[in-house]
Amino acid sequence: MNAPVIGTPLARVDGRAKVTGAALYAAEFNQPGQAYAVVVGASVGRGRVKRIDDAPVLRLPGVIAVISHLNAARLAYRPHKGPIDPAIGERLHVLHDDAVRFHGQPVAVVVANTLDQAENAALALKIEYAAERPVVDPRDPEARPTIPEAATQPGARIQADKTRGDADSALAKAAIKIGAIYDIARENHNPMEPHATVAAWTGDRLTLWSKSQFVVNEQAEIAAVFGLPRENVHVICPYVGGAFGTSLRTWSHVTLAALAVRQVGRPVKLVLNRRQMFYTTGHRPRTIQRVALGATRDGRLTGLIHESSGETSRYEQFIEALTSVSTFMYSCPNVRTRYRLVPLDTGTPNHMRGPGEASGVFALECAIDELAYSLGMDPLELRRRNEPAIDEGENLPFSSRSLIECLDLGAERFSWSRRNPKPRSMCDGRLLIGWGAAAATYPALWGAASARVRLVEDGTAEVEAAASDMGPGTYTSMTQVAADFLGLPVSQVRFSLGRSDFPPTPPHGGSQTMASVGSAIRAACIAAMEESARRGGARPIEASASSARNPDDARRFSMHSFGAVFVEVAVDPDLGIVRVRRAVGAYGAGRIVNPRLAASQCTGGMVGGIGMALMERTVLDPRDGRAVNAHMADYLVPVNLDTPQLEVHFVNEDDPHVNPLGVKGLGEIALVGIAPAIANAVFHATGIRVRELPIRIESILAG
Ligand code: MOS
Repeated sequence: MNAPVIGTPLARVDGRAKVTGAALYAAEFNQPGQAYAVVVGASVGRGRVKRIDDAPVLRLPGVIAVISHLNAARLAYRPHKGPIDPAIGERLHVLHDDAVRFHGQPVAVVVANTLDQAENAALALKIEYAAERPVVDPRDPEARPTIPEAATQPGARIQADKTRGDADSALAKAAIKIGAIYDIARENHNPMEPHATVAAWTGDRLTLWSKSQFVVNEQAEIAAVFGLPRENVHVICPYVGGAFGTSLRTWSHVTLAALAVRQVGRPVKLVLNRRQMFYTTGHRPRTIQRVALGATRDGRLTGLIHESSGETSRYEQFIEALTSVSTFMYSCPNVRTRYRLVPLDTGTPNHMRGPGEASGVFALECAIDELAYSLGMDPLELRRRNEPAIDEGENLPFSSRSLIECLDLGAERFSWSRRNPKPRSMCDGRLLIGWGAAAATYPALWGAASARVRLVEDGTAEVEAAASDMGPGTYTSMTQVAADFLGLPVSQVRFSLGRSDFPPTPPHGGSQTMASVGSAIRAACIAAMEESARRGGARPIEASASSARNPDDARRFSMHSFGAVFVEVAVDPDLGIVRVRRAVGAYGAGRIVNPRLAASQCTGGMVGGIGMALMERTVLDPRDGRAVNAHMADYLVPVNLDTPQLEVHFVNEDDPHVNPLGVKGLGEIALVGIAPAIANAVFHATGIRVRELPIRIESILAG
């Protein structure tokens, strides 16, 4: 019997392939005779295409086709909604008519023999528009909030309106109260790997080598768009070079690649450039939120109001859990939450790391800090005093909840007790030092998943599932699970993922891969071992299994990860520059399958949180909806100098209810809580309460 490998800090099993270049990403699957497609995006923010002058472009060297609504095949666009597609609205029908719904919307695709020829032709293509002024700012007088229809269904995880007690009266009567508005900028995911699809038709069968966090959904979506049987579409994606949610949906460029192949009769490679990725592959929606808190003088919450709005497109309602956390994070008898959408002339937003929670928790955790100052109370003590016994929003016990342990462990490692609570009281030379904290949470999801195990003659095992690994280490953690349940060393287990003909799994998002795919692999391994025992150890043996959360469990327990984050900032009072000096995160996320990769996940989330707090902001020109900083020189993300000492700790948490592996997932919670901890630290350093993200030099200088 081998010692268990679940719980050990195994190095990435795919690490060598990645650093030697053996790991192939979507754009590297070159096909014989392939042509190159380049998307042409609308240069106006709303209106109509009046004229496309393709004749001169078609005479340029190497150009094979200019495809637009004038000559594109009309596609079937059968109804299809995967679990990550907005429930309300209809996806963009690309090159279908002359309408321009947002800046950057594809209006043509140029196909040529080489990439240079295609890019040159795309630049040369002259398009005339009838332009109208787009509405791209939720504060625009023409922007109108609307109710998120999917969030009005009883029992839905995201609720447009949720009330208990009478929060408004409680606020009116509260001894101590605060209220403020928080505004978080639109952000783009900006992974290192661009979106890319290499497409080839063989008869009526379409193969897509395509960047995706959800290959089985890409298969279903493209089959629906083209009116094909699902089995005629095959999606392959063994590696994902970062995604953070942007590759959960199947966006219009995948359709364009497949359309181009059909129209030119050759395999086609289509790669979006950095600028294009700001328009057609989703973004974290701009959100505007108001939080009001009322409390007794000894710091017991008596009323909580959280009203929020997020932007969406005109054609789909993207929803996220913006106010959900406020219903269960703290004990409070009177709570009212409201969530609205503001449709704008933009592409549809989508999930971006810690979707909903990261934005909602920013408002809540800054408000808690503001209340702590109004009370003259330590912000950790305020949180401790309002620790709930159960999820008061759902009226359910927590399957496990380690927020207090996280606050204690994090505070100890950070040396929080040495903090002088007075703003502007801690200095390092002329720099102002601030220490801030915030709590974090994210739901412990478990989606239905399947896996297949083959015990081979040579004693090794092959394990397959249609999952993805965008960086958390899915290849490695699943190998660990399989090794343990097969009783094999990891070197004898080969795990493969990223093919739509492998057993289906849920989206590689929402921090559910470890729970979902891991539980399916566990089940398949157990089935294979039983079959092997029945057949006296004969080989080969193949077994498949599926697993999913028992709906009764979801009705019996509220299941979430919790965490506490501590940050030190240094603020230059003359220049307004904020730098994070160190961060400590403590998390209760169930069983940790691989502490090394889990810590790496968490530091990655901290880096994302630093970006959200201090740098990331997509700025739209109100005249034409253009993203004025749609490139990595002006859309800032943290680099090494911005990411100081990051420390991660896990509390021991044994949760028998979440799933058979006892794991809760880590990807999203790692970003939640960082931005409010930084904003709270900035207040502690400067006495300036910045409620707008990102916190900029001018926010500090104007304060
Ligand atoms: Mo994560 S935003 O669910 O990919």
